[in-house]
Amino acid sequence: MRTPFLAGNWKMFKTVSEAVAFAEAVKGPLSMLKGVECGICASAVLLHPLSLALKGSSIHLGAQNMYWEKEGAFTGETSPVMLGGIADCVIIGHSERRQYFGETDETVNRKLKAALAHSLMPIVCVGESLAQNQAGETEAFVSGQIKGAFADISAEQAAGIVVAYEPIWAIGTGLAATSEDANRIIGQVVRATLAGLYGKDVAGQIRIQYGGSVNTGNVAELMSQPEIDGGLVGGASLKPEGFIALCEATAQAKSKG
Ligand code: 13P
Repeated sequence: MRTPFLAGNWKMFKTVSEAVAFAEAVKGPLSMLKGVECGICASAVLLHPLSLALKGSSIHLGAQNMYWEKEGAFTGETSPVMLGGIADCVIIGHSERRQYFGETDETVNRKLKAALAHSLMPIVCVGESLAQNQAGETEAFVSGQIKGAFADISAEQAAGIVVAYEPIWAIGTGLAATSEDANRIIGQVVRATLAGLYGKDVAGQIRIQYGGSVNTGNVAELMSQPEIDGGLVGGASLKPEGFIALCEATAQAKSKG
């Protein structure tokens, strides 16, 4: 039984005071919620104040990126050691990092290994572009991203990794994948590729989120699909009441399944 995981990806939004006010607003309501894990992935600048504001709650706190080295002359980077004791998870390989900051399957793999070595729960993002989707290349491309990300990662480690399937054409466009399509790609491509690498048992333990224009109107339908184990949500996670509603709807949809 996989516990659903709904995480907000705030991207490059919010100041320290806005982040702390958000944490104070969601902490109480979300701590009472059963059947779902919730998380906030924020800019590195916001992580320490957020960790203080969320103290005593069960809400995961994640970075949106990190470097793989422990320390050194890497100006502008954040290391897994620096995240220790502040964040407990980290997004790796988001399509915006691949597109604008030169992230590749190889750097994703290095970061994934570093996150695991430092006991951070990784959320590894994969997903095809509109052109790849229209050319019928989704299956091969997403499967290749999974194989690249998971290279030399053991079955035991793999079971604790979260994957987010985020079709690029659905991110920030208001045009989410249909729940059937998202369920199919997650089951027949992402999980099937993981089963090829690690066997069905391990693949069945790995949580796979859907991301791309998830909102309070479509979250219940998406989360009612058996292969979808939660969501990675951008824009709709930025307001406390919306974020609480997304987490509640996920718990409710999964309790029916
Ligand atoms: P939106 O929910 O704003 O489409 O963003 C999705 C995303 O990129 C989450 O990582």
